[in-house]
Amino acid sequence: MPDIQLTKGDIVLSRRNLLTTGAAAVGAGALTGTFTSPAAEAAAKPTPSTAAGSIPKFAVAMPVPEVLRPVRRSWNTDYYRMTMRTVSTEIVPGHQTEVLTYDGSFPGPTIMAESGRRVVVEQTNALDTPVSVHLHGASVPTSSDGYPMNVIEPGGTRTYTYPNVQPNANLWMHDHAHMEEAEHVYRGMSSMVVLSDAAERKLGLPSGEYDVPLVIRDVDLDDNAGIVFTMDDSVNRTTILVNGKPWPYFTVEARKYRFRVLNSTNLRWLAPFLADASSYTMVGSDGGLLEAPYSTPAVVLSPGERADIVIDFSTYAPGTSVVLQNLAGTGDPAEIMRFDVVAAKAEDHSRVPAALRTLPALPTPTVQRSVVLTMDEDGRPNPMGYINGKTFDMNRIDTTVRFGDTEVWTVSNGNVTTPHNFHMHLVQYRVLERNGKPVDPSEAGLKDVVALLPGEEVKIQMTFDSYRGLYLYHCHLMDHSAMGMMAQMEIV
Ligand code: C2O
Ligand code: CU
Repeated sequence: MPDIQLTKGDIVLSRRNLLTTGAAAVGAGALTGTFTSPAAEAAAKPTPSTAAGSIPKFAVAMPVPEVLRPVRRSWNTDYYRMTMRTVSTEIVPGHQTEVLTYDGSFPGPTIMAESGRRVVVEQTNALDTPVSVHLHGASVPTSSDGYPMNVIEPGGTRTYTYPNVQPNANLWMHDHAHMEEAEHVYRGMSSMVVLSDAAERKLGLPSGEYDVPLVIRDVDLDDNAGIVFTMDDSVNRTTILVNGKPWPYFTVEARKYRFRVLNSTNLRWLAPFLADASSYTMVGSDGGLLEAPYSTPAVVLSPGERADIVIDFSTYAPGTSVVLQNLAGTGDPAEIMRFDVVAAKAEDHSRVPAALRTLPALPTPTVQRSVVLTMDEDGRPNPMGYINGKTFDMNRIDTTVRFGDTEVWTVSNGNVTTPHNFHMHLVQYRVLERNGKPVDPSEAGLKDVVALLPGEEVKIQMTFDSYRGLYLYHCHLMDHSAMGMMAQMEIV
């Protein structure tokens, strides 16, 4: 089992609890090493901003992002309209912060989609910068995939069509404008798209008001609560936001809840962990439900990864609280949010069945490739990111894939101190092994982001049987992809 290196007193206590409860099986990859590159250390400001220090914890209620309503529905399609615009929002109580948004909210509204029903979104860019809308985790034609150069200029409109010919999954709408994606997403261009299906609904998992997105991110705020973006700064983004609010509290009934956790940070690892070391049940990952529920005290999520977890608050007395901490990384703020438990309004009829789904059998692969992720780690100014030694070039096709082929890619992190991860557009893959060993249950489902700590190697398998065309693969530490750690494949 991977060990966890912990540095802060309060987390060490958690670790001890973890060990005494005998539940040491914690998620993907070892949580060791520093998650800060030398370049980031060099770029870091000498003192962290003071705004973070002045924000009281657990003082603001966590909002649930609103669900966007279609402007029209036909027999097989839901039509939406969104305007990307700058708004002011209250992140720090009493202060206004300017953010970039999908349709005016931070994070953006949730779109509820259904397998087999198309979603068509007409996006209008009311920002003063070109944008490109990507639906992360979705299998879509290349014209709607948010290719970095298919931008919407300020004042322009573009219509994206999402066929939703795939099973349930938590998808993520975010910006992908060439070299600007990191800053745009960091400033707010992020919305969840929940793709559901009948098979999922039949399971009886907590639903309705008991099915809640937790969009977790960090941010560096200045003394006026303005968002500070410094490329590759993994040191100063110390304010944790859940659904756009700093270290919020959320009132829950003493019953089961399903949380759709999205790590929407650019650089930070998250390992949500209940402070009393209780286990929760992971039921889904990036590409939808796992085959079987997995009980664990913490799931490790690198940037872009999702986890569906069920927490049973009926074990807590009404009137008590439990803090959700982050067990990952070094020097991290330990808290994420707090759950305040009240009596249940009614009996809880939700359940977590022992079998959630059956994943298709793995076809025999016919092509093997290897991918090495690296970034300049020597402290030089303007470090670049590389895939197989090359920075991203729009005019170069890095990989040509035959439509229909099943491939195995060996992906490794060639750096010594810098963590990376690996995201592919278009496909959901299976992680066959990590460092030569079978993966942990949290990584056994369909995935589109896989974490790679320094020196780690994974083997992933995918089948290219949905669309032809140009698609990206990249590190999803968004500052890294914006620094060139991105490449493209053409499916022909
Ligand atoms: Cu979520 Cu190309 O990214
Ligand atoms: Cu990276």
